[in-house]
Amino acid sequence: MKKMTTLLAAVMLLASITACGEKNQDDSSKQGAAPTAAVSAAATATPGAAATGKLADVKKAGKLVIGTSADYAPYEFHKNIDGKDTIVGFDIEIAKTIANDMGVKLEIKDMGFDGLLAALDAGKVDFVISGMTPNAEREKIVDFSKVYYNAEQIILVRAEDKDKFKSMDDIKKATVGVQTASIQEDLAKKQAEGATIKSIGKITDLVMQLKGKKVDALFMESPVATGYVKKNTDLVISNVKPQADKAGSAIAVKKGNKEFVDQINKTLDRLMGDKTLDKLVTEASALSAE
Ligand code: ARG
Repeated sequence: MKKMTTLLAAVMLLASITACGEKNQDDSSKQGAAPTAAVSAAATATPGAAATGKLADVKKAGKLVIGTSADYAPYEFHKNIDGKDTIVGFDIEIAKTIANDMGVKLEIKDMGFDGLLAALDAGKVDFVISGMTPNAEREKIVDFSKVYYNAEQIILVRAEDKDKFKSMDDIKKATVGVQTASIQEDLAKKQAEGATIKSIGKITDLVMQLKGKKVDALFMESPVATGYVKKNTDLVISNVKPQADKAGSAIAVKKGNKEFVDQINKTLDRLMGDKTLDKLVTEASALSAE
């Protein structure tokens, strides 16, 4: 009992911190078109239904608990929908479809990107969907679904600095911002060796630091950066490109749950096969541009 109370308190604290951090970003007072992904941010603990990450247990609980870092439009982000802070995005739509296919409800836990895999391991969430790219390091601790989306790596800079950065050598002299525990953190360390690298928990904060000249360049994925460029005339995508393959997104589940991965892949196959996913990406991008 005591343990549960502590957990509850921790989660509530986390939720309130998250809410504060999002305040600046949530400046949209207008009420947009009906959202396609209006699942409210249920950043609450789920006493009694520990997420074992096993398919049968999710079905038995009647609820799929997902972990995400909702700082990543158009994948997952906060949006004011009819006066209510809501987590939306194409990852959320995918999760909703998976939950539907399983005949269970969806619950979203919003947390820092760097805490997602630990939350999965600790049984706080059933799976992680967060624009997460499978790599060898992560595959040691979790299993991944198939890749459902691919994104390019770019560098986001202030518009006034566009001509200042002509090659990676110029970036190496700058202060570079990256999201903590992201593949961009590794990429920047390798490719912009010598740069001052600032790792920050949330993309929304990174962008504020870039605008406020606390950092000069952000290693990011292009769909996310493009969204910011559209909304912020003082930001542009640099001509300097990191040398990297496209980064795929996949869903992470606890190791050794093949049935669960199969179930997830079945939904992904359908969403990709009939091009529904393309539509979800377009809709989520439009929603974030509002
Ligand atoms: N694709 C990158 C990675 O896996 C970044 C993902 C960041 N996702 C987020 N929701 N902030 O490391």
